[in-house]
Amino acid sequence: MKIDYILLKDHQLKGLEQLPTVFSHPEKNYSHYLSRMGIQYLSKVLGALPPPLDKIELVDFQHIKALPGHIFSVSHTKDCALVASAQAEKFKGIGVDIERVHRTIKVDSEKYFLNSDDSFQGSLLEKWCVKEACFKALSNSGEAIKLLQEAVVIDNNFYFKENPQSRKHNCYEIIKNQEHIFVIAYCGIGNSQVNLNSVNFI
Ligand SMILES: CC(C)(COP(=O)(O)OP(=O)(O)OC[C@H]1O[C@@H](n2cnc3c(N)ncnc32)[C@H](O)[C@@H]1OP(=O)(O)O)[C@@H](O)C(=O)NCCC(=O)NCCS
Repeated sequence: MKIDYILLKDHQLKGLEQLPTVFSHPEKNYSHYLSRMGIQYLSKVLGALPPPLDKIELVDFQHIKALPGHIFSVSHTKDCALVASAQAEKFKGIGVDIERVHRTIKVDSEKYFLNSDDSFQGSLLEKWCVKEACFKALSNSGEAIKLLQEAVVIDNNFYFKENPQSRKHNCYEIIKNQEHIFVIAYCGIGNSQVNLNSVNFI
């Protein structure tokens, strides 16, 4: 089983001079389009013909009509977008988050996203990024999760606080480069090993 993912940075948008005004904030618009480029490119790699960039719609945060057998998750920062995709029948849900490595998380904000049952290592930024990705994977898998705090993380596994039995099938990985930290989380179905496959944008 595998999850394909692609990281797109702002220089890959050069040449696209006019961005449709989906969001009023120009930076949000930029990264939104990067994420749609990522969806489009991953779809092509997976063998589908996706709609034009400005028509790509993520239904329920995870489906695109052009590729019904696959699920997606996206995250964007100011200058970068991360998109992941996997076969729908092999996962209950996937979730991703990306942050710039220099982003600071206020120490007193941890009470809003950490849970007293959490038991995992990492900086506050890493923990934030893990919680966001796990939240999206749980939400996409159909759990009635509303808050980051309701995702409980124990080592490399996680679960919705109302469903601890799902823990062993739910895993995440943290990946870092010089500029970004990102997390890919998934709610699996069986015990098969999952490989993360980085797709390069050419
Ligand atoms: C949902 C949430 C994780 C989105 O994160 P974010 O930092 O705003 O944005 P990101 O760039 O990482 O991700 C945005 C993408 O997440 C996806 N997304 C949004 N809500 C989602 C949900 N409930 N489930 C799964 N994916 C979701 C969307 O596809 C969105 O991209 P798009 O608008 O381009 O389609 C965030 O709003 C959140 O934390 N919600 C929980 C509420 C909470 O606990 N808040 C307290 C924080 S201290």
